[in-house]
Amino acid sequence: MKKAFVIGHPIKHSRSPLIHGTWLAEHGIGGSYEAIDVVPEDLPAFVERLRQGEFVGGNVTIPHKEAVFALCDSVDPLARTIGAANTLVRQPDGRIYGFNTDHMGFLGNLEQNAPGWATGLQRAIVLGAGGAARAILVALREQGVSEIVLLNRTAEKAAALAKEISGPFVPGALADYARYAPGAGLVVNTTSIGMHDTRFEDLDLTLLPRAALVTDIVYVPLVTPLLADARALGLRTVDGLGMLLHQAIPGFAAWFGVRPEVTPALRAKVEATL
Ligand code: ATR
Repeated sequence: MKKAFVIGHPIKHSRSPLIHGTWLAEHGIGGSYEAIDVVPEDLPAFVERLRQGEFVGGNVTIPHKEAVFALCDSVDPLARTIGAANTLVRQPDGRIYGFNTDHMGFLGNLEQNAPGWATGLQRAIVLGAGGAARAILVALREQGVSEIVLLNRTAEKAAALAKEISGPFVPGALADYARYAPGAGLVVNTTSIGMHDTRFEDLDLTLLPRAALVTDIVYVPLVTPLLADARALGLRTVDGLGMLLHQAIPGFAAWFGVRPEVTPALRAKVEATL
């Protein structure tokens, strides 16, 4: 029986066992996917268990996503750019390959819920320059978006990130938003502001083109104040739950050999746990 895992500390709130368990049942695969609490000092020993063949692979979450780099035998270059590996695959020779699926989750979510979103997209605005912004910048760069405006409360952090990750990035402060909004087809919030039920002050959504798409990577609450404001104006919105679901696909495919789908039933199941 193929066994996979998600490791983290704490781990009990992870929705990954529900997602992968649903797919295992749907495809009649006699495998398992379990959440395992691993404290930082036990991470090397756990990766050794994977290397020895107890598991086919698994997901890695907080606080191990950076530390696990040093324990992998090979790492995807995009994961290095993102600064975190969230998926491990044990290769037949026992070597451990680490990669990141957050950028794929972001793109998969938009493709499913706003088909054609990238067609003719000239400018995207990314809000926030923390760890979560990195996967979004990589995703938009890989998608070929011509201009990616990176705005942050602390403008220096946006400038540093734009310099570190090469791409068509234009860094700035949140106060620069009004200048870029009229030509922006996409706004992505990567900050945690919506989790605290607060909104950006002075972010005038009426400045955006009517066809603009607004998305948030936060999914608790599902409808963040930013998304609620955008919807009230009639703008298209995509919430962050789909990113969580879609980022799970590549790992499942690598471990169990079937590419699963994000169905409305799966989404409803996970949404019920929020
Ligand atoms: P992570 O690495 O998990 O993404 P982080 O490094 O704390 O978390 O980054 C959070 C992001 O949200 C940052 O871009 C932060 O802006 P600063 O760099 O200026 O701190 C942004 N952020 C958090 N709370 C904010 C708020 N109330 N208003 C505007 N930006 C906020």
